[in-house]
Amino acid sequence: MAHDEVSGAETPASDSSAVETSRTASTSTAVIASDVANPGEPAHRQRVTDTDPQAAKRAQRSVYTLFYLSIAGSVFAVAAYMAFPIENDDVGSVRLNTLFMGIGIALALFGIGLGAVHWAKAIMYDKEGIDIRHPVRGTDETRARAVEIFHEADQESGFGRRTLIRNSLIGALIAFPLPGLVLFRGLAPQSEDPAMLLSHTMWKKGARLTLDPSGIPVKASDVTIGSVFHIIPEGLNEAPDRLEQKAKAAVLLMRLNPDDLNISPGRESWSYDGIVAYSKICTHVGCPVALYEQQTHHLLCPCHQSTFDVVNECQVIFGPAKRPLPQLPIEVDSEGYLVAQSDFNEPVGPSFWERS
Ligand code: FES
Repeated sequence: MAHDEVSGAETPASDSSAVETSRTASTSTAVIASDVANPGEPAHRQRVTDTDPQAAKRAQRSVYTLFYLSIAGSVFAVAAYMAFPIENDDVGSVRLNTLFMGIGIALALFGIGLGAVHWAKAIMYDKEGIDIRHPVRGTDETRARAVEIFHEADQESGFGRRTLIRNSLIGALIAFPLPGLVLFRGLAPQSEDPAMLLSHTMWKKGARLTLDPSGIPVKASDVTIGSVFHIIPEGLNEAPDRLEQKAKAAVLLMRLNPDDLNISPGRESWSYDGIVAYSKICTHVGCPVALYEQQTHHLLCPCHQSTFDVVNECQVIFGPAKRPLPQLPIEVDSEGYLVAQSDFNEPVGPSFWERS
């Protein structure tokens, strides 16, 4: 314990030693700021382009040549995309397309990057300065000065004056995104309307519900209460674009107690004795909704945890999905097999496509 001279009270020893420590300078690695002289700014060194007008001109030529090179790279990438199209089942065509587009895009990026750096290092005014931090909103004088600085920067960089460099840079920046646009266009089907393709699946009246992946048709009597089946349309395994079709037409089939189902007007005939079929493609961003909680009758998408309530026509009860899973109207044919009454009555998959 230590004695407090002012109050006369005893204080714990640890408090006293803490006060003591704060009064003495550390003898270890601490540095007292006043001992270190401000080194100031290093002496300014003139560049070749500051003293030699010929060198400045050469630098200027290099800069706009690099920007033009960038434009050429972008154009080359677009031309390569058309000259070396990707053919189905031809890996060589993919390699050529990727190689030449890559060279073009690399050239475009290299030209812009190197041109900008060279411009800044060799031509722009190389004044060094110190800017002290201020409150967020400056005074009116500061703001006016900021505008002045912008004008000065414009003067010093020559952005407004050196029209050849400026225009070639603007051209390079405009041309650079073109290969990206061309690539995105190439992702969509070329000969058909993508919105229409997404609005229709392989399901049609009378198409049997078959097991995924075997393609064995399912009878209503096979589906017991509490069971769930992964379903594809009859004939899907033989379709040339099997995977694309499956990505739209996959369905989950479940049987619940018919009294548990809350069916809205117009959908009374879409299920069969408690057997319901819903699209397996999540309405958030299209993952397969693969998890069925038998006790709660919830379907869960593992990607971002959207949860759909089968009892209430697969309404969303949790997660980022914005609309229920589309229901496939089903019935039973004369042999007892489950068949579709029609295609889905709305587009399957992410909600975006509903807008088309
Ligand atoms: S894709 Fe299903 S929740 Fe995101």
